[in-house]
Amino acid sequence: MSGERADAATNASSDDAAPRHPFIRPYRPGDRDAVYEICLRTAAGGGDATGVYSDDSLMPEVFALPYVAYDPDLAFVVDDGHDGRALGYVIGVADTRAFVEWWKREWTPGFRERHPSPGPPTGRNPGFTEAQLIEAGTDPDRMLIAEVDAYPAHLHIDLLPELQGQGLGRRLIDTLRDALAARGVPAVHLGMDAANTAARAFYDRLGFHELPSSRPDAPLLGIATDRSTTGDRPAGDELSA
Ligand SMILES: CC(C)(COP(=O)(O)OP(=O)(O)OC[C@H]1O[C@@H](n2cnc3c(N)ncnc32)[C@H](O)[C@@H]1OP(=O)(O)O)[C@@H](O)C(=O)NCCC(=O)NCCS
Repeated sequence: MSGERADAATNASSDDAAPRHPFIRPYRPGDRDAVYEICLRTAAGGGDATGVYSDDSLMPEVFALPYVAYDPDLAFVVDDGHDGRALGYVIGVADTRAFVEWWKREWTPGFRERHPSPGPPTGRNPGFTEAQLIEAGTDPDRMLIAEVDAYPAHLHIDLLPELQGQGLGRRLIDTLRDALAARGVPAVHLGMDAANTAARAFYDRLGFHELPSSRPDAPLLGIATDRSTTGDRPAGDELSA
């Protein structure tokens, strides 16, 4: 073995021995299936939604896949640190109004073809029914919340159970806030399942506040993107002061 090859072998074996931790990286097209899977496995109030609806693709097709199709540069994943598999993500859009227009044009027609009507009952009876989910896939105007101009961006975040509680959710949100701030977007909002009390505790801890149009059965939370200030509201926000 030449000296050079021996060095390479030594480096490879020391690299192999090094602990490899999950890390955050930008989304890439090969992550799409993993994003689908993560969404499905966390879509029932934070738990596994497999088999809840007649078609497992419904949740990802409403709450994950359109986002990575529309603006993959605002998607970040937690890489497992071993084989490049994504185990969690934050996905977002900077301008919800523009996203709604894109959805009507590019997403609704295909979605309607794939999901013309609710399938046979699964016996699971979720609070968010299959009919409502199909409606959500074809009616993006639901995203035009009253505060959309002050909080133009919105996001979704999901981590597989084995990754939760390690600070990665906070780091994903920080990453997206920084990316939005770099684009000049002042604030971001999210809607969530009121039954997901663990996620609510997480958002509260990170400094999200309720928006005026938030309802107990349909919470709406927002936060400024600029992390360098201590306030959680964007400059000039009088909506929720
Ligand atoms: C909700 C979720 C994104 C949070 O991410 P996470 O990596 O588990 O949370 P982190 O470890 O980054 O926690 C960040 C902070 O929130 C706090 N926190 C998180 N979950 C909490 C809980 N259930 N109760 C109280 N505090 C909580 C942590 O203590 C931590 O505080 P610190 O940074 O001051 O120490 C993640 O658990 C998840 O994906 N859950 C399943 C899917 C889901 O519910 N998605 C949200 C849909 S709206």
